[in-house]
Amino acid sequence: MLKNVFDWCKQHIVIFTIISVVFVVFFGFINIQILHMTSEPEFCHLCHPAQGFGPLAEVDSWEHSAHGDAGVSCLDCHGRPGVVGYMKAKIGGLRDTYMQLTISKEEKLEILSNPHEDLVPSWHCLYCHSDEGNKTVRETTKGPMKVVNMRMLDDVVNPDFRERKGLADIMTDDFVGGTHFDHTLHIEEFDLTCRDCHFGVVHNPATATDRMNFCLACHADAGDDAPQVADCGVCHEAQKAMNVGTGIGDLDIPSMMYGDAADMTCVDCHTGVTKGTYRASSSTCTDCHEDEAYNEIFEEWAAETNARIDKLKEMRVELEAALADADAAKRDTTEVWKTYSQALRNLKFVRNDGTNGVHNNEYAIAILETVKADFKKAFTQLDSVW
Ligand code: HEC
Ligand code: HEC
Ligand code: HEC
Ligand code: HEC
Ligand code: HEC
Ligand code: HEC
Ligand code: HEC
Ligand code: HEC
Repeated sequence: MLKNVFDWCKQHIVIFTIISVVFVVFFGFINIQILHMTSEPEFCHLCHPAQGFGPLAEVDSWEHSAHGDAGVSCLDCHGRPGVVGYMKAKIGGLRDTYMQLTISKEEKLEILSNPHEDLVPSWHCLYCHSDEGNKTVRETTKGPMKVVNMRMLDDVVNPDFRERKGLADIMTDDFVGGTHFDHTLHIEEFDLTCRDCHFGVVHNPATATDRMNFCLACHADAGDDAPQVADCGVCHEAQKAMNVGTGIGDLDIPSMMYGDAADMTCVDCHTGVTKGTYRASSSTCTDCHEDEAYNEIFEEWAAETNARIDKLKEMRVELEAALADADAAKRDTTEVWKTYSQALRNLKFVRNDGTNGVHNNEYAIAILETVKADFKKAFTQLDSVW
């Protein structure tokens, strides 16, 4: 029987070869599909299914995070860069599956509640968030960076990636995410890791208040060189600039409720600071304006600005993709990049203020108008380079 098969193969060597190749390609394809499927958040969701934050809710919390929005997926953080890193993460996945079948619910919760402090090491974050960190990892990664398109991580080359996403190089810029903050100084001087401050990143419900308290552990009575609590504007550079109303293009629209004109400072609205409640709210408005309608003005300001930001976010994603296409086709996009980067910086400025225009509605709207105009201009410029 076997001999007959061999004989047939010999006589039909061409057909046999074709069948073999089809087989290999087919199974290779299925394998890759399996690797793909088992890397998707939907797959992780099978065993990490809870809603909200914390242990078991890792997929849901990711879905609502800035990383989730930006398309940074589980294995972009939970697998190291390169093909070897990817395969190691997949093998770790087999261990997860084995553990799922062998340990109790309580044991699983215990493990998930105490993630190892090196689960995602700082150098891994720096691979995406700094140029130097990216270079170092790319130079020292063994084996190929990628075989096929499996995830975002293996394509991250800085500064290109950062600029596309409008991100700062956190080790060289000291105005990041709206705050004046020198990462290099703090990380090197005090031996801190990313998680010490970004404990809220992705899965954790820690609030901005927790983060400010972390700073105040030192800054409540640090030496002369360090800003003190009362120096709100030194750390909150974006919020200060928003209140002052200058700095973007030639716009000059000071808030009517800040500075000399109204004789007001930050703590006139942020009245709870000394009691540890940093955030003001719509009820603050009626402390000074007796009419309840001022609560509604707050809501209207926030809703309008928020709706505009959402629209612009969609435009940004479209533009980023169109730019990538043009770059892939080797068009000269230098000018488009300039327009895009400026618009993105301004959009982030409004987002980073974090109040949806409440600090200075007129200024925020005016900036968002320039962003819209710049995005449109970039699309027109793109049309002309094709
Ligand atoms: C078959 C069920 C199952 C699936 C599917 C699954 N996990 Fe898990 N995961 C577990 C269990 C059980 C644990 C706790 C035991 C352990 O550490 O392996 C765990 C733990 C983890 C940990 C923490 C490990 C540690 O040492 O603290 C991470 C990170 C993780 N999973 C990520 C993922 C990602 C990412 C995916 C999707 C690509 C995924 N898991 C899919 C069952 C699963
Ligand atoms: C931006 C990087 C990043 C992304 C993306 C990310 N994680 Fe995590 N994950 C972390 C960090 C950092 C920790 C360590 C715990 C912490 O600091 O909250 C962690 C912890 C975990 C843990 C350990 C238990 C826990 O709750 O702390 C699990 C399980 C996990 N992640 C699963 C996932 C899954 C599933 C996805 C995709 C849906 C995902 N992660 C996406 C960074 C990330
Ligand atoms: C694959 C690349 C990648 C990795 C790895 C990565 N990030 Fe990010 N990160 C991004 C992108 C892209 C954004 C932009 C999100 C946006 O558009 O606002 C971002 C945003 C952020 C932000 C600002 C938004 C927020 O959630 O507060 C912080 C802080 C941050 N990352 C910290 C970290 C830390 C800490 C780690 C390691 C645990 C990490 N990142 C790992 C790509 C990455
Ligand atoms: C001492 C606290 C501290 C440590 C340690 C720290 N950060 Fe930050 N990080 C901040 C603060 C403060 C901001 C400003 C944004 C904000 O107000 O949350 C920030 C902002 C960022 C942003 C947002 C930048 C943007 O363009 O929006 C990223 C990304 C980031 N950090 C990554 C990291 C990474 C990666 C590490 C570890 C290498 C790290 N950080 C360590 C406090 C810290
Ligand atoms: C471990 C203590 C410690 C923590 C935690 C800490 N700082 Fe500092 N910070 C200092 C000291 C000390 C200085 C003065 C250092 C110097 O000038 O050489 C300083 C300086 C600064 C400065 C002025 C220097 C500069 O960057 O221009 C700013 C702004 C600042 N810190 C912001 C922050 C923020 C925001 C946080 C919280 C995310 C924070 N710090 C957390 C100790 C700390
Ligand atoms: C040493 C630097 C520093 C100083 C000084 C400082 N803050 Fe903060 N503050 C922070 C950081 C860091 C955060 C967290 C920001 C984030 O994660 O986006 C924060 C968060 C906040 C928040 C958001 C709280 C929340 O839970 O939503 C408010 C409001 C705030 N600060 C107001 C103030 C006011 C008002 C002052 C002056 C009285 C002040 N801060 C002084 C660093 C500082
Ligand atoms: C500490 C007192 C104070 C608080 C709190 C305050 N304002 Fe004002 N507001 C003022 C002053 C002072 C002016 C300037 C009055 C003028 O020039 O006529 C003003 C002006 C205004 C104006 C334009 C003039 C008017 O009266 O219609 C609006 C709108 C306004 N505030 C809305 C708000 C909203 C919304 C909030 C809550 C986020 C708020 N204010 C919180 C003191 C305050
Ligand atoms: C007219 C009142 C008013 C003044 C003046 C004001 N704020 Fe605010 N601020 C608010 C309100 C209200 C919120 C909360 C907005 C919300 O929840 O959408 C807020 C939110 C914030 C936040 C949190 C932003 C985030 O990312 O969540 C910070 C930080 C902040 N203010 C800092 C400042 C600083 C610094 C100054 C002075 C330069 C200042 N504020 C002046 C009313 C004010």
